[in-house]
Amino acid sequence: MPGRSLTLLRSLAVAPGPPLTSTEHMRFPNLSNHLARCGRGAAALAGVMLLSGCVWFDGPQSTFDPAGPVAREQLHLFYVTCWVTLVIFILVGSTLAYAMFKFRARTDADAHAEPPEQSHGNPLVEVSLIGLSILSLVIIAVPTLRDILFSYDVPEAEKPNAYEVTATGYQWWFKFEYPNETAKTLDPTGKVVNAELATGNELVIPAGRPVHINLRTVDVIHSFWIPKLAGKVDMMPNRGNFLWVEADKPGYFWGQCAEFCGESHAVMRFRVIALGPREFNDWLNAQMEPARRVPVPDGATARAQFASYRTFRVNEPGYTDRYDGLSPLDEWRKQQQPDPSAEDPVLIARGRALFTAKTCIQCHTIRGDAGVGVAGPELTHVGSRTTIAGGLLENNRDELHRWIHAPNEVKPGNKMWVNGYLVNNIKLTAEDEDALVSYLSSLK
Ligand code: CUA
Repeated sequence: MPGRSLTLLRSLAVAPGPPLTSTEHMRFPNLSNHLARCGRGAAALAGVMLLSGCVWFDGPQSTFDPAGPVAREQLHLFYVTCWVTLVIFILVGSTLAYAMFKFRARTDADAHAEPPEQSHGNPLVEVSLIGLSILSLVIIAVPTLRDILFSYDVPEAEKPNAYEVTATGYQWWFKFEYPNETAKTLDPTGKVVNAELATGNELVIPAGRPVHINLRTVDVIHSFWIPKLAGKVDMMPNRGNFLWVEADKPGYFWGQCAEFCGESHAVMRFRVIALGPREFNDWLNAQMEPARRVPVPDGATARAQFASYRTFRVNEPGYTDRYDGLSPLDEWRKQQQPDPSAEDPVLIARGRALFTAKTCIQCHTIRGDAGVGVAGPELTHVGSRTTIAGGLLENNRDELHRWIHAPNEVKPGNKMWVNGYLVNNIKLTAEDEDALVSYLSSLK
């Protein structure tokens, strides 16, 4: 065995080859047979990859299924790089494989043969290889530079048509602000006054229109990523980053923090909902309104005293394929509408009182109702969102109860648990939780 491995090393170093009396083995047909074999292998491998690709290339966070010009350009650049490197891989790999097989030691004499006369190489081959390397770099560099310029900011010609939003990273959720819109709230006397428009974890944007997104963070570095719309850009402390996206048509997209930012980084998600012009305007108008108030009829009593919620395992997935199926956008639309038949006005009113009594107002704002806190997500219209807890849980009564009941089991280390429940020693009974769930769900 040592003799054989030594032979292999020698053949790699100087390729002494079999008896050099004949050049038969170096003729072209042999080489083409090898190349054909390698080609068939590569094609089979690519086929398997493409076949498996059919299953996961169009997942909710797939960059292979772009839904806007920025992501499409970036995918195009990826393919250019991929094809160039694939050609280089096949050329280099097949040459190496050819040399290894062709010039391997076949007999004991080969293993002890003197190395052939050493040459300094072939100038023509060397210069051509340098030329080819430069050419392949240029082929990659041209679209790379073009894409860097294109994805940097909204194209000059489209700037007047661009919509502006601000996204801010928090441990571990995203806040979205609409700096050019004015929302309504109520002052203590009940008078309508202006307020800022902000949402949490769900960014609603106009479709078919460029959107300039300012990127900020209040704590550590996060990275803002909507795989189907654009590549990642970091949210840096003390630095104003931005990116732009455009959704071709209305849709429901997944977003994700893509920079390690603490223990719950992996569950720091968000959604992007792109709407046509009229629907986007309707949504804006609905969001600008103060919180929805469900009136309590005179003499009404709570319909049920105890709600039974199922218990969740730690780390149990918080979503189904409801927002991942054929039309997540339609599910989002359904979520905008209140369902008075399923509401219990007495329970909602109780939840409303508890929201203040249990100090939730310190961190959350519910415009026109309670709270001025900005440390946690804006909850004015939380019932109309499809997700809660930083895009991690589906927004339904069960999951909302799970989140309020044991936030630390859903998102370890989160501030609602550490700085809220623990510091303020918040204790919630099953009835309290039910009332809070009813109240928050009513905020459409
Ligand atoms: Cu924020 Cu990772």
